Amino acid sequence: MQNMAYMRPATRTAFCHFREGLEPLLQAQSQTLNTRDQDLFLIRLERYFADFYEPFARLYQARPDFETQLAKLGPLLIEHYANRAESLKKLDLERQLTPEWFQHETMVGGIYYVDLFAGTLRGVRQHLPYLQELGLNYIHLMPLLKPRPGLNDGGYAVMDYCQTNPELGTMADLEALTAELRANNMSLCIDLVVNHTAKEHEWANRARAGEQEYLDYYLTFDDRTLPDAYEKTLPEVFPEFAPGNFTYYPEMGKWVWTTFNEFQWDLNYTNPTVFREMLTYMLFLANKGVEILRLDAVPFMWKRLGTNCQNQPEVHELLQAFRALVRIVAPGVIFKAEAIVAPQDLISYLGTGQHTGKECELAYNNSLMVLLWSSLASRKVNLMTHTLRQMPATPIGTTWITYVRLHDDIGWAIDDENAAAVGENGFLHRQFLNQYYSGEFPGSFSRGEIFQFNPTTRDGRMSGMTASLAGLEKALADKDPTELEMAIRRILLLYSVIFSYGGIPLIYMGDELGLLNDYSYRQNLHKADDNRWLHRPAMPWVLAAQRHNLDTLAGRLFSKMQQLIKARCRTSQLHSAASVATLWADNPHIFAYLRYHPAYGRLLALANFSEQPQIISNSLLVENGLSGHICDVSQLDCPPVAVYNGQLLLEPYQFRWLIQKEA
Ligand code: GLC
Repeated sequence: MQNMAYMRPATRTAFCHFREGLEPLLQAQSQTLNTRDQDLFLIRLERYFADFYEPFARLYQARPDFETQLAKLGPLLIEHYANRAESLKKLDLERQLTPEWFQHETMVGGIYYVDLFAGTLRGVRQHLPYLQELGLNYIHLMPLLKPRPGLNDGGYAVMDYCQTNPELGTMADLEALTAELRANNMSLCIDLVVNHTAKEHEWANRARAGEQEYLDYYLTFDDRTLPDAYEKTLPEVFPEFAPGNFTYYPEMGKWVWTTFNEFQWDLNYTNPTVFREMLTYMLFLANKGVEILRLDAVPFMWKRLGTNCQNQPEVHELLQAFRALVRIVAPGVIFKAEAIVAPQDLISYLGTGQHTGKECELAYNNSLMVLLWSSLASRKVNLMTHTLRQMPATPIGTTWITYVRLHDDIGWAIDDENAAAVGENGFLHRQFLNQYYSGEFPGSFSRGEIFQFNPTTRDGRMSGMTASLAGLEKALADKDPTELEMAIRRILLLYSVIFSYGGIPLIYMGDELGLLNDYSYRQNLHKADDNRWLHRPAMPWVLAAQRHNLDTLAGRLFSKMQQLIKARCRTSQLHSAASVATLWADNPHIFAYLRYHPAYGRLLALANFSEQPQIISNSLLVENGLSGHICDVSQLDCPPVAVYNGQLLLEPYQFRWLIQKEA
């Protein structure tokens, strides 16, 4: 009993008590759990108990029902452990032996709406060969649990977490899919909406009926006093279609906290019952074979008067407590935080300070995504270089999700201070980006739409598919072959960075074929108000069928993307554990970063963000330890790279992944 020795006295006492309560329950499961299973459970319990108990106690110890609440968690863990399939228990063992599995350079992901990609969960299974052909092994399927009828925020308003959306298939279909993915070394990520439920969830129905127990699951107010006080410092997520953060329900005579849409009710995590209920859903989904839980809207889980009610310290306590308990039952499962927040708040979701190694394994590198688009519009990389140099390294055992586009809008999370440091005005730069990407700015190559313009703050965000924002839509409309070439290069440039900067890169469905904006949402009653549907097109399988024809646009992009993935997968310097250092190149248009892996050495990535050829001095290479025979491993034939007169040339929008060849 090694781990007990490290526990604080109060934690040790709580642990002994907790374990004593569980032992008879474990033994009662001897039909399903053999002695080895039981031993494993107890070893894990001891290993992770402090990680769970200490934040849980900090959150809830002051409550009179603390001990009762604590005691209710044990049986839940055992129940789900007993229900865990043998194949998943084997996966747990494998993952614990290879805890860095998701950091491998061979990890490449894609994001899909089940209905838009393949109709149903069974359809997804039929299309697995397509995903494999592209080279993916991490599949994020957008919300697929049972949503409320009608408007449902793209599935983020869930009324039943234990059922799939019946239009997509059944839980059995989901299990069959995860089994098939596992058999093919692919992992499934799904969304778990932890911050809110649909107002049609059973808890909400019972709250509406006046049951106090369920009113306590949500944040409700008899009058406007507190809502008004909170509103003073709360931003609005959807100022256009869902202004304000509270909704009045006359039938309840109460205001309900609704950060997002009116039909999404924020949960009350000051109530430990809510914690337990959400844990139950996590374990339930883990047992269906889901390997990555994308925890939706985590920054909003804890509210505090006088703040923006995001990123509160308690959010990290909650995440750590969840993390530890899921590790006891299903250590093969990892957490991905959906925290689209400012750079200084972002890293905490990967576990920093007292939470190091105990929070989420994955978080979205939102800053990188925003800065890529910022640089593409300005043709300058100063702001990106400066900002990324401020970002701390990812803690050991964690990594980023890197991406160019997702199903959401692009919020211009550009820090005023960082902008000022490179001589830019943050506000004006954000205005510029909206003008540029909506196509209003003279000479813009982009075709996007502004999302949720707030006339008070003049803030706006951006919707649009990668290809349309990168110039493909306009080039095709203008029948301009030069611009077409530039647009293709821009798309590949952006992807080259997310494939090599560090983390699991995610390809947004259709980007591999150059899919353009889908304007049909304007005719759909359930979508017309929300222009994020502009970049949520259906998968055009007819277009996909052209992917082997290199004379087509789709074929060119698909094969290039496939090659880049292959190049990434054989480049060990791109393992997530290899460090990344963003460098100042001596050219404001060239983004440069060094990946360093202690076993495999250095890789210098260069990316030209302008449509002009650019040169950099060879000294950048030499200073970063590259000399002699240099080759570009982003190309499958790894061509040697020539230096003339001490300078290296990059063609318009060219990128290079340089390594030194063994002499
Ligand atoms: C996340 C989702 C977004 C949704 C919101 C509310 O940010 O990505 O699509 O609107 O959560 O659930």
